[in-house]
Amino acid sequence: WIRRTQGSAAGKHLLRRGYATESVPDRKVAVLGAAGGIGQPLALLMKLNPLVSRLALYDIANTPGVAADVSHINTRSEVEGFVGEDQLGKALEGSDVVIIPAGVPRKPGMTRDDLFNINAGIVKGLCEAIAKYCPHALVNMISNPVNSTVPIAAEVFKKAGTYDEKKLFGVTTLDVVRAKTFYAGKAKVPVADVNVPVVGGHAGITILPLFSQATPAANLPEDVVVALTKRTQDGGTEVVEAKAGKGSATLSMAYAGAIFADACLKGLNGVPDVVECSFVQSTVTELPFFASKVKLGKNGVEEVLGLGSLSDFEKEGLEKLKPELKSSIEKGIKFANQS
Ligand code: NAI
Repeated sequence: WIRRTQGSAAGKHLLRRGYATESVPDRKVAVLGAAGGIGQPLALLMKLNPLVSRLALYDIANTPGVAADVSHINTRSEVEGFVGEDQLGKALEGSDVVIIPAGVPRKPGMTRDDLFNINAGIVKGLCEAIAKYCPHALVNMISNPVNSTVPIAAEVFKKAGTYDEKKLFGVTTLDVVRAKTFYAGKAKVPVADVNVPVVGGHAGITILPLFSQATPAANLPEDVVVALTKRTQDGGTEVVEAKAGKGSATLSMAYAGAIFADACLKGLNGVPDVVECSFVQSTVTELPFFASKVKLGKNGVEEVLGLGSLSDFEKEGLEKLKPELKSSIEKGIKFANQS
């Protein structure tokens, strides 16, 4: 089985049918915020993932309907819906991976940081429950602002005595997905072959795609790289504006979240050489958290990979993003410790 999944394009097996399950370990995945714009398509994609044996769908409202609906799909996992805080413990118990897309999304004119006041509290509460009910689970944080919600989660887990820096991930996969799509368009290469690391954080200029390392290499002119970088950084805003008040990226985010969770599951299952970019505790720069390529293994992060060689434009972008990222991280830490 391991040999069969190796080398397959990321997420390719999401739609594979008739998968032999005998040798695949049991894995429980919980989605918190499962009835939301991201949560629903993410629940669908996780239901299609043959690595999942139990799928717990939790939200403060509307999960029974989502769970009933998704549960009729004839794939491996058993689906259970949980609604309201008194069912949160049951939703989390035994989870190997917990994905968190709970919280409010942006409206036009808002930055991700504008979501802080509401989402910080939601994330804190959910992480307190994770510390209690599934302290060893890998946590995939989608709720924005990721640059602050990941540090909040770390502080909550530290207070509970359960923090393991190998198990906490800010999901930045959508930045990678966007960078790949936009790059393929300009470089005129097949999008399925493209790889682009995206480092830094997950908001505005803290999102730093490293197009100098993009493969297949295309030697794009500097002005095109500058435009691609800006489009990747503003990709979320592009969707927020197009949705005109009806939310932010949900479908592409669900796809990205499913890719990242799948990578976590593969790592847990011992598949070698699983690498994805993620916002994790890091010594790659002087900042305590930073997104870069991360190798995933049986205990979560196996290795945080370095930045590799950067172009002058990328070096400049890296220096520019640090103050903003630092202050978002500090804001999260402060919130977690004062409330
Ligand atoms: P949404 O409003 O459609 O769904 C959010 C869901 O969270 C709702 O169903 C709501 O009932 C639920 N919720 C609220 N409080 C909760 C709690 N305490 N426990 C459990 N569930 C709770 O929002 P959408 O579009 O799904 O976005 C969710 C989050 O994901 C937002 O913070 C958004 O900014 C973020 N996001 C992150 C991206 C990334 O790349 N990391 C990309 C796009 C969005």
